[in-house]
Amino acid sequence: MPVHAQSNSPADLEFGPRRPSFDIDAALASDWHSERAFVTAWFNGMSMLFPLGEKFFIDSVIHYLDDINDPRLAAEVSAFRAQEANHRVQHQKYNETLCALRSYSLDRFEKNARVRIAWADRELPARRRLATTVANEHLTAIMANDMLAREGTLNGANPEIAALWRWHGIEETEHKAVAFDVFLAVGGTLSERRHALILSTFFFLKDTLRNACIMLQQEGKLWSFREWASGFKFLWIYPGTLRRCFPAWLQFLKKDFHPWQDDNRALIAHWKSEQS
Ligand SMILES: [Fe+2]
Ligand SMILES: [Fe+2]
Repeated sequence: MPVHAQSNSPADLEFGPRRPSFDIDAALASDWHSERAFVTAWFNGMSMLFPLGEKFFIDSVIHYLDDINDPRLAAEVSAFRAQEANHRVQHQKYNETLCALRSYSLDRFEKNARVRIAWADRELPARRRLATTVANEHLTAIMANDMLAREGTLNGANPEIAALWRWHGIEETEHKAVAFDVFLAVGGTLSERRHALILSTFFFLKDTLRNACIMLQQEGKLWSFREWASGFKFLWIYPGTLRRCFPAWLQFLKKDFHPWQDDNRALIAHWKSEQS
């Protein structure tokens, strides 16, 4: 079979897993982000989705290993796999520690994702599963870019937990196009990925909010006006994470979209030098 370039990443982009350790256990017992329950629960609720989600992402890409004949994309797939496997380990540890410290049920947080992934594995064709991964990788990449490029998202956060989230964000940026390029190489269509983005965004926001609400309920703060007001401000006004990510979210719907059209390699270099 002739070898075609299937990777569309910048020619000098190189990445692989880094295994830093983070001393986060004590801080997880507290409202580690700005001493605010909602914002802390928002991040913690998101973390609960990662171990199962990232396994699904790896599996959906690895399924197509035999269709990748560009050695560069093959190498990127193994780096992607190693990075996501590492994220799973770190977030599993984060989640287990958090649940032990705060008497949360890990199983309850993972339930929705577990049921949905089992359904997808059973019912969806492999390319639809890959499209779901491509869409979720877009969500993580645009949130990572926002967190690393702009002020505010981690202001007031515990420094060690912030470092963990930045490390994850850097690696999501590095491998942001891997699943996308595999999807292109195996004939993925525009309508498949548009459809996947709408559904993935809905489930991502719903599950994160659900998890945050369970945590707030357990802390006795589910009906705190103060917490919801500060959460609304965080998500929509300042830093306004969801508002700020919306233009980048829309880009994915364009016919000729590619993740590296937003070339943020300088950001990776900057934060890697900060963390080394
Ligand atoms: Fe990840
Ligand atoms: Fe990723």
